[in-house]
Amino acid sequence: MEISGKRILVVGGAGFIGSHVVEELLKEPVQEVLVYDNLTRGNLENLETSLADPRCRMFELRGDVLQRDVLDKAMEGCDAVVHLAALWLLHCQEYPESAFEVNIRGTFNVLQASVRHRIQRLIFSSSASVYGDALEEPMKESHPYNNWTFYGATKIAGEQMFKAFHRRFGLEGVGLRYMNVYGPRQDYEGAYTAVMMKMLDAIDRGEPLSVYGDGSQSYDFVHVRDVARSNVCALKASVPFGFYNVGRGVKTSIRELAELLLALRGSSLPIRCVAGGQTFVTNRVGCPEAAGRDIGFRWTLGLEDGMRSLVEWRQARKNAKDAPAAKFQK
Ligand SMILES: NC(=O)c1ccc[n+]([C@@H]2O[C@H](COP(=O)([O-])OP(=O)(O)OC[C@H]3O[C@@H](n4cnc5c(N)ncnc54)[C@H](O)[C@@H]3O)[C@@H](O)[C@H]2O)c1
Repeated sequence: MEISGKRILVVGGAGFIGSHVVEELLKEPVQEVLVYDNLTRGNLENLETSLADPRCRMFELRGDVLQRDVLDKAMEGCDAVVHLAALWLLHCQEYPESAFEVNIRGTFNVLQASVRHRIQRLIFSSSASVYGDALEEPMKESHPYNNWTFYGATKIAGEQMFKAFHRRFGLEGVGLRYMNVYGPRQDYEGAYTAVMMKMLDAIDRGEPLSVYGDGSQSYDFVHVRDVARSNVCALKASVPFGFYNVGRGVKTSIRELAELLLALRGSSLPIRCVAGGQTFVTNRVGCPEAAGRDIGFRWTLGLEDGMRSLVEWRQARKNAKDAPAAKFQK
């Protein structure tokens, strides 16, 4: 799709990945980027730079995917939709009913509204979680749905409904199966903190870094800026429909990740292997070839530079938070 002069609705656009998608879209000659988000996890601070661009605005009612009439209003006059709103893995694990409502019902609402408003292209944030544990490596898009989690189940449902909407109503677009996304604006406090943030917290406290088992569980870490670009690539692509991996196709173990973070922080703290821990998948690396071929997406940021950007962002946030207290103490 030609995106110049187009109005694009970004559902879940105030979140971690969504706010980067908004930024990447604003690098293009689009007419308007409208953010629809109920701010349960996202926040306006993530959009500070973007909202300074006159082409970008937050939908006045903010917006919930479960409020169909409000969603309908927001979609009026839009040409394309990027749908990222969802509850995350651990949230779904604890609250399956909410997972069903937001991730399945909410996605259904976005699909239905897209058809009603003759949306030219919809980009849906799926997940590598649809694959579950790897039966083959690297995982191609043809890998079976070997999932056992509520979160993965909601993403499979989203994919299947999108497929049916494409066949039944001709709704065009792409579902993107992100691997392990990391980078600035990632949650670094609260209930659903990612492993690298826990490791950085341990370094701050001067404690050994804990890895479960022998730390050999391996993942395909991909930087959020690349993930955001994959959404723009998917919008611009002409492929009528498909699901694509978004990753680097590079395997990094949790132990290697711990070593890299220690090196970036100039720390010599030890790595400690501990028993137990809640791990949902133990090995996952995605083949990036189809995304390169069909939607023109290729990753650019390697793990060292990418993790450095995360470490620097986290430090800047911590400094900004501590600043008023420091002033008060003077
Ligand atoms: N972060 C990852 O590693 C990863 C990996 C695979 C897939 N994904 C998928 O990518 C998408 C974005 O993930 P993220 O990491 O940016 O998560 P996030 O929680 O930061 O962003 C989701 C956004 O959706 C909003 N939202 C939640 N419920 C809503 C509702 N009912 N109505 C409207 N808005 C609502 C939240 O406020 C938030 O801003 C999600 O669909 C997620 O499942 C993420």
